[in-house]
Amino acid sequence: MKNNQIIKRSPSNIAIVKYWGKHGNQLPNNPSISFTLNNCFTETKVTYSQIENPNSIEMDFYFEGKENQAFKSKIEKYLQENKEHFTFLNGLHLNIESYNSFPHSSGIASSASSMSALILCLLGIKYKDNEINLQEASYLSRLASGSAARSVYPTMTLWGKTPSLPESSDEYAISIADMINPVFKTYHDSILIVSSKEKSVSSRAGHSLMNNHPMAENRYATARKNTEDLLTILKQGDLEGFIKIAESEANQLHDLMATSTPSYTLKEENTINIIDKILEFRKETCLPICYTLDAGPNVHLLYPDSCSEQVHSFIDEVLKNYCFNNKWIDDNNG
Ligand code: PMV
Repeated sequence: MKNNQIIKRSPSNIAIVKYWGKHGNQLPNNPSISFTLNNCFTETKVTYSQIENPNSIEMDFYFEGKENQAFKSKIEKYLQENKEHFTFLNGLHLNIESYNSFPHSSGIASSASSMSALILCLLGIKYKDNEINLQEASYLSRLASGSAARSVYPTMTLWGKTPSLPESSDEYAISIADMINPVFKTYHDSILIVSSKEKSVSSRAGHSLMNNHPMAENRYATARKNTEDLLTILKQGDLEGFIKIAESEANQLHDLMATSTPSYTLKEENTINIIDKILEFRKETCLPICYTLDAGPNVHLLYPDSCSEQVHSFIDEVLKNYCFNNKWIDDNNG
């Protein structure tokens, strides 16, 4: 690596307790807990050089080898809005090159991995050879995309204030890797791709649907309770408890969208077919598998490594048939 070049990788994450609804400057209305993934990541390279004007920041942005104006504008806006945190970039030209390990058309949200990878690169410029402060990285990632705050730590992460963890904060995520039973460190997330279409509701628009939502207060109270309950479940290695919360959170997220104004249905026919097959298979085999959903039609199948052989055959024989182009991504807790 050259002196003036930083390369960082940051993964995507999948929330078990969902963040949906925010206030102020990207502050969550309830705490959330996620698995950090491993195979779905963004890798970003920033090459920087001095420019004449010591007060400005210049940049070029390439996504998967092609110049990308939309992403560049998004980063410029972010740096402008948060300029007090990035004075160390003044007088620099940044050449930013980024790619995702997962296909762009897979419907997997990339803002968490891409924004956190970028922030880690920028902090790499700030700290040079010294270690990056991950709390600062999480704080700055949150300002770019809420769920990105959770991507900077491996394994499992909590973002948002919750009573049993005094160190938790709405402003940044914390690692909870040391508080969970080892079985949860072996979890797989097999992402069953139902559709490759762009999301029909952006997360910015989605969060704002919560502002006048008739169930908002009830939802936040439930999410707060689910966070506390899940922390106990994770500590105890209670797989049954995990299944109940994961599936209920996924369905609540989709029900909130379905009952908002305007209303959105993000599940597709094959989302339902896959969920039905998962529930049937669980009943037959008694394996501790379950599903969660992000704000889209794809199904995330979650299970401990001990049942991966049986689950992989089940995906190959049954679930794959309901996937777009038979496509699924085998990921795990990274
Ligand atoms: O980080 P955002 O603003 O894209 O919101 C993410 C919201 C969900 O992905 C639906 C849930 C979550 O907690 O990741």
